[in-house]
Amino acid sequence: MTPDIIHSNNFLRDALALIRRTANAAISERGVFRMGLSGGSTPRPIYEALAQWPGHDEADWEHWEFTFGDERCVPPNDQQSNYRMVREALLDHVAIPPENVLRMRGEDAPEEAAADYERMLRSRAGEEGLYRHDLLLLGMGDDGHTASLFPDTDALTETKRWVVANFVPKFNTHRITLTFPILNAARHAVFLVNSRGKENTLEQVFSGKSLFPCSRVQPKQGKLTWLLSA
Ligand code: 6PG
Repeated sequence: MTPDIIHSNNFLRDALALIRRTANAAISERGVFRMGLSGGSTPRPIYEALAQWPGHDEADWEHWEFTFGDERCVPPNDQQSNYRMVREALLDHVAIPPENVLRMRGEDAPEEAAADYERMLRSRAGEEGLYRHDLLLLGMGDDGHTASLFPDTDALTETKRWVVANFVPKFNTHRITLTFPILNAARHAVFLVNSRGKENTLEQVFSGKSLFPCSRVQPKQGKLTWLLSA
């Protein structure tokens, strides 16, 4: 698969335009816009800008559905929680129905939280028996991880389950994460990457020879975009 690689000189504007364009198309075609949210620092300004989008209060938030690509095993009000970051940046400021925000329960036992999340996604699967994100936002670490699919961790080999509790030795903790089967079911996966400090990793990824986890995001019947901030 040949990804679109966009070197953006206005990262926020380009990301917002992509989100709104995809949302409008998904809602008019299927009545719902399913967006997977990534954690980390890069997407926060994008979530904040989305919350302030002109006319956002008329936005059809009841047709939006948010999932999370991964979550730390902490309570939702913990500083480390991806949910907390998204709530502060976006959810507290828009009228999205609470039931449309599918939160990973980081406060529960990791295996239980993963199984619970998988049940939630499967209960919303489409006719192909898949939960297909219309837009799946992903980040990339300088070690080539994405979501919480870190190099040399068990979750990389999962071929059936959509959500697992992945033990990450470098942090000596579990993370709840979506797995490749569900990531690669997306209609459009978009990596949002602040290139600074990740140039070497990106060069290897775009060489087509990298074995990084992020390189294995190749939507089977979908698009792949890398939106890079200068
Ligand atoms: C997380 C993210 C993780 C993140 C990358 C990049 O929970 O931290 O899911 O995969 O996207 O680590 O993080 P930055 O955007 O902070 O560089």
